[in-house]
Amino acid sequence: MHHYLSAADLDRPAAEGLLRRAQALKAAWQSGGHRRDAHGALPLQGQTLALVFEKPSLRTRVAFEAGMTQLGGHGSYLSANDIDMGGRESVPDVARNLSRWVQAIAARVFKHGTVETLARHASIPVINALSDREHPCQALADMLTLLEHRGTLAGLRLAYLGDGNNVCHSLLLLGATLGVHVGVACPPDYRPDPDILAHAERLAAAHGAMITVSSSPAEVVQGADAIYTDVWASMGQEHEAARRRPVFQPYQVNQGLLALARPDALVMHCLPAHRGEEITADVIDGPQSVVFDQAENRLHVQKALILTLLRKDEV
Ligand code: CP
Ligand code: NVA
Repeated sequence: MHHYLSAADLDRPAAEGLLRRAQALKAAWQSGGHRRDAHGALPLQGQTLALVFEKPSLRTRVAFEAGMTQLGGHGSYLSANDIDMGGRESVPDVARNLSRWVQAIAARVFKHGTVETLARHASIPVINALSDREHPCQALADMLTLLEHRGTLAGLRLAYLGDGNNVCHSLLLLGATLGVHVGVACPPDYRPDPDILAHAERLAAAHGAMITVSSSPAEVVQGADAIYTDVWASMGQEHEAARRRPVFQPYQVNQGLLALARPDALVMHCLPAHRGEEITADVIDGPQSVVFDQAENRLHVQKALILTLLRKDEV
């Protein structure tokens, strides 16, 4: 693996290995920090991750920056105001320049093609920190959270409600790879991308999982181990928010819907959340919610990902 642009870039052994590594890093961090080498150096001493972000971020940015710091390295944040990728400078030139100074790039972009162009022209690993097509770092944290709360992944039933968006796409691909049954309930005009769906179905067939897509929330939530939702209008779609609200209202995660799932079903959301829209406050702030475990796990999986891409096998 040279880059991590899609959740499908990880096969089953690689995904399982990454989750194990994240668990080990989490345990090490919680019991006093990471091991230093014979010279007292942390694993990423002197190394820099460039964070090229065209959109806002709390979790992704801080998890990458804090993760680099904890491993002895540094994160360098570059917003659209700083570099205006594609405007002030072409995407290939940004990739070529960064490759001369830093060891990896995490990019949050509007068009998925931009992370692909960066990867094509960079001589260092490129990580998709969210594009219009996927959010693969989020899916890793979500799988780690499910694993921690349920002890296993294969055979679990994950119900995703709402927009068939970037978060949904990465959950479909990584879930299928790890043997998780993923059911998606969405309005007919907001189904996941057909190519991603077909890819997820192939992965699911190979790993003993089932993918279902329905317009009925009740059907998908029935007996689910976890219910997941995301905002109805993603970053860049704010102008559609008012039009989307009535279309998505039947897919709101509320107490009535939660009652149809297993009594101990986990409630998941990638955050930021709009309480009262895609999820009610009592549910996201209730006892079944694991949303801040998901947020915390961004740190641990992203550290595991950077170490893996930088071939730091000893940590
Ligand atoms: N979940 C997530 O990616 O959050 P941010 O947009 O704050 O990074
Ligand atoms: N689907 C959302 C996820 C935010 C983390 C968006 O793209 O805005």
